[in-house]
Amino acid sequence: MHLTTEEESILNGEQGETKQQLMEILTGIGKVFGAEEMVPVRSAQVSGASYKTIGEWGLKWLASLDAHATVPAVLNPVGMDRIRWEEMGIDPAFAKKQLEVISAYDRLGIRLECTCTPYYLNITEYGDHLAWSESSAVSYANSVIGARTNREGGPSALAAAIIGKTPKYGLHLVENRKPGVHIRVEGEPKGADAAWYGALGYLAGKISGNRIPVFSGIRPGRDQLKNLGAAMAATGAVALYHVKEITPEARIFSYSTEGLEDVIINADEVASLFTGEQADAVAIGCPHCSPDELMAISDLLEGCRVTMPVYIFASRDVIDREAGYVRKIESSGARVYADTCMVVSPALERYDRIMVNSGKALAYVPTMCGAGAVIGSTKECIKMATAPRP
Ligand code: F3S
Repeated sequence: MHLTTEEESILNGEQGETKQQLMEILTGIGKVFGAEEMVPVRSAQVSGASYKTIGEWGLKWLASLDAHATVPAVLNPVGMDRIRWEEMGIDPAFAKKQLEVISAYDRLGIRLECTCTPYYLNITEYGDHLAWSESSAVSYANSVIGARTNREGGPSALAAAIIGKTPKYGLHLVENRKPGVHIRVEGEPKGADAAWYGALGYLAGKISGNRIPVFSGIRPGRDQLKNLGAAMAATGAVALYHVKEITPEARIFSYSTEGLEDVIINADEVASLFTGEQADAVAIGCPHCSPDELMAISDLLEGCRVTMPVYIFASRDVIDREAGYVRKIESSGARVYADTCMVVSPALERYDRIMVNSGKALAYVPTMCGAGAVIGSTKECIKMATAPRP
């Protein structure tokens, strides 16, 4: 692997022990995956932020580091809203440890935004190289924006945040971004909401595995693409997908589907996932809500009271920017939390079945929260949440 003089000096420890250790992580990964060089990154998103995941050992490792991020960097969602955790019913002992992890990252210059939607915070553009770690964020960056990132682990994303570079292999290289399977969708409903694309992604991820799918027969918008990619990253290992005539690389390279396995998913298969079962809580915001989604939820809740617990998740930055919608949503009794989500927070483990509008949450809530999950459109979620109860 070719290193510049500057990179060599970091690796030799001339810029301190921490940077040396982090450069060793990056070059080690680069060697394993055959990278020829390092590439500067525009931003990083660091996983390993939940105390539940990293534990005492991870906390000690973070405390031992002495360096500062050199590119904009944020964290993955953690186990609780770092301000409103008591209201979420989080155990104070867990909260104390979680806050220690967050302040360890703060000391390292990582912005205290714990979100899977860093693309609403930092400018991310076509062709940017990134070091992001959360699977839905990686999928969105690669597919919807046309930026380039592998799915980083916590230490490698942190190393990239501090060094400002990542090894150039995998999805950083244009030749590795071609489709490997063609998914033809039949009967896309007109005006389908994001949940429909989440359900489509739930099915398509199982078919794709770790291949890069190219879709035809659908015309999703940005929030729909977000849900589609998140679900495929959950039921498969899809870090990049293309949609003919919609996503940037499909438009630029007009990939041919000749010679690819051709799979059909029809609207009836997608519809069969919407079972309409009763739930005892509603959770929206997987991935974290966009400003448009908060607006749509606040419109649906206008003048209503919720009759079951309703959790909405978004990044703190989006919540602060859209304070008007958030106030309207909360006046219905629903709660809008930052920093966390329905899957990583222990707060939702107390329910039997949760209604979600996300294919990713449909896949993960049963395994990670131990609750059942049912998928519905955002409208159906709000309808269930506000229905009269005996
Ligand atoms: Fe984000 Fe949590 Fe879903 S991290 S993608 S809201 S599982």
